[in-house]
Amino acid sequence: MKIFLDTASIDSIKKFNDMGVVDGITTNPTLISKEKGHPEDIMREIVKIVKGPVNLEVVGIKTEEMVEEGLRLKRFGDNVVVKVPMTMEGLKAVKKLSEDKIKTNVTLIFSSNQALLAAKAGASYVSPFIGRLDDGGQEGMTVIKEIVQIFNNYDFQTEVLVASVRHPIHVIEAGKIGAHIVTLPPDILGKMLTHPLTDKGLSLFLSDWEKVKKEHKYTI
Ligand code: E4P
Repeated sequence: MKIFLDTASIDSIKKFNDMGVVDGITTNPTLISKEKGHPEDIMREIVKIVKGPVNLEVVGIKTEEMVEEGLRLKRFGDNVVVKVPMTMEGLKAVKKLSEDKIKTNVTLIFSSNQALLAAKAGASYVSPFIGRLDDGGQEGMTVIKEIVQIFNNYDFQTEVLVASVRHPIHVIEAGKIGAHIVTLPPDILGKMLTHPLTDKGLSLFLSDWEKVKKEHKYTI
């Protein structure tokens, strides 16, 4: 299972990238709006830091605008994936960009039928927003199960990128279903990393080791 970070924060990206668990990045206009600095500088820097796919979102509404913007974003680096909204104009842009061998991620997906259409249009990734579905009283993970099953049934190469993840249990559930990728806000990756018993256990090991050092006049 691949883990992407869902952030435009350079500090968070650097912090977790060095740990070797970050396979890629997803950004969106809201995430970029939270950061200081020129958006283009931020995007270019992320592309430089991370080796894996960096998903940068277009803001045009018309197909032509999205394609033009996608081609421009792609010039930031080979690892750029163009993120396009799930609209008819968006899917037409996906088709055009994929004909040019440019990878696309169809975002704002809320149903398995939308995911199916995005895959058929040539998307490399589909991004179902499970947290926002949960917020509205619909089980987001059910949509993930359906999409994974449909893609497996017909051997689609499109990867399921579970987005709008709200807690670590979402990650476990997505993994059990066999979703290809989860994109995580940095705080959720932080929560996955720690456990109170790890901290307690480590502190006991260290204090016991202090006793060994004292007893044997050992310095390490
Ligand atoms: C994914 O690509 C989106 O950036 C993100 O997961 C949206 O999450 P949110 O619902 O927490 O805004």
